[in-house]
Amino acid sequence: MAEIRVDNLVKRFGSFTAVRDTSFTVDDGDFFCLLGPSGCGKTTTLRMVAGLELPSSGSIRLDGEDVTFKRARERDIAMVFQLFALYPHMNVRKNIAFPLVSMGVPRAETRRRVEEAARVLRIVHLLDKPVSGLSGGDRQRVALGRAIVREPKAFMMDEPLGALDAEFRHLMCGELRALHDRLKATTVYVTHDQLEAMSMADKIAVMNDGVIEQLGSPQEIYDRPNSMFVGDFIGSPAMNFIRFEGAAIAGSSSVTIDAVAISLPKLRESRAPGPLALGVRPEQIAIGDPGRTGGGLPGEIFGAEYLGTNQIVTVTTPHGMLKARLPAHVRAIAGDRVSLSFKPERLSLFDAATGKTIRSALHDANMTRRGHG
Ligand SMILES: Nc1ncnc2c1ncn2[C@@H]1O[C@H](COP(=O)(O)OP(=O)(O)OP(=O)(O)O)[C@@H](O)[C@H]1O
Ligand SMILES: [Mg+2]
Repeated sequence: MAEIRVDNLVKRFGSFTAVRDTSFTVDDGDFFCLLGPSGCGKTTTLRMVAGLELPSSGSIRLDGEDVTFKRARERDIAMVFQLFALYPHMNVRKNIAFPLVSMGVPRAETRRRVEEAARVLRIVHLLDKPVSGLSGGDRQRVALGRAIVREPKAFMMDEPLGALDAEFRHLMCGELRALHDRLKATTVYVTHDQLEAMSMADKIAVMNDGVIEQLGSPQEIYDRPNSMFVGDFIGSPAMNFIRFEGAAIAGSSSVTIDAVAISLPKLRESRAPGPLALGVRPEQIAIGDPGRTGGGLPGEIFGAEYLGTNQIVTVTTPHGMLKARLPAHVRAIAGDRVSLSFKPERLSLFDAATGKTIRSALHDANMTRRGHG
């Protein structure tokens, strides 16, 4: 299969820059997600990698070969889009076989590949049916089949599950990942749905406004967001931000919010007094009775949403609303005054003026891991 290497890619449409100086490498066999909000440049990036759009500058390498100026059909990359353009007058078998027929692949070989793809996608029983009567999920399997039979170097998928309803999308996520584990084909998958990306990707590139804000494994991105944007975009509920005025001191393992010392991973960088934000994941919050477990940040329960095994509790504080994920048995009655404490290990600290992380021991661990491959 293939390694994809993108260097300093830029795409301008007139005076508007859709993709700014983007670089990333997709390792051979990886499932790589481009994740970000609408309009951030995901499709444009994908189309440049696939050869459907010419970059304004920068380069694209496929297995070491510079393909920046090669046309799409010279790149041996298969695309799957959200809007599966099947040929309505052909049955499933002919739809899947279409790229092989147009490439002039011999009939016996075409038949073998189509049936193998249908087996992998579990649509053998549909092969001789017309595509017009198929469900959305089956149509998407046919579209995937058409990409698979080509046995391309890499797959590019642009929100391929976007048109399906939520439950089905979840099912297809599992199937797509299982398919990937069988084929081990390098895949670039575009989505604005962080749950999709988190559940499927080996690596995620979080895009915002034409740039990649962070690139890492789902867990790195979840545990160590390097900007408030990433912390907010990933996770459901999102990361909480406790905004305060204060200083960060390199070597210190705490910050002070309203005279309360909050422990966090040892800081590697300093900041002069100014606006800071403590980033807290919902599951890192514990609530206690202020009379008995004093010393935390004060808050008041606003409401609770029960989810069976746990609950999402909304707490108002002088620094805004926080959402905590707590065991279902924890008492959380609206109006109760509580004391908030935080598990220190994975807290993040941000410079609230720039939105960027203030490096801590955790981020150093991140850098070291990545540095060693
Ligand atoms: N052909 C074009 N001409 C002008 N502007 C364009 C063109 N294609 C894309 N853009 C702009 O570039 C920006 C990025 O578009 P792109 O389609 O890459 O976003 P996206 O991240 O895929 O968004 P979505 O999640 O909505 O699909 C948008 O502001 C879009 O309007
Ligand atoms: Mg798009």
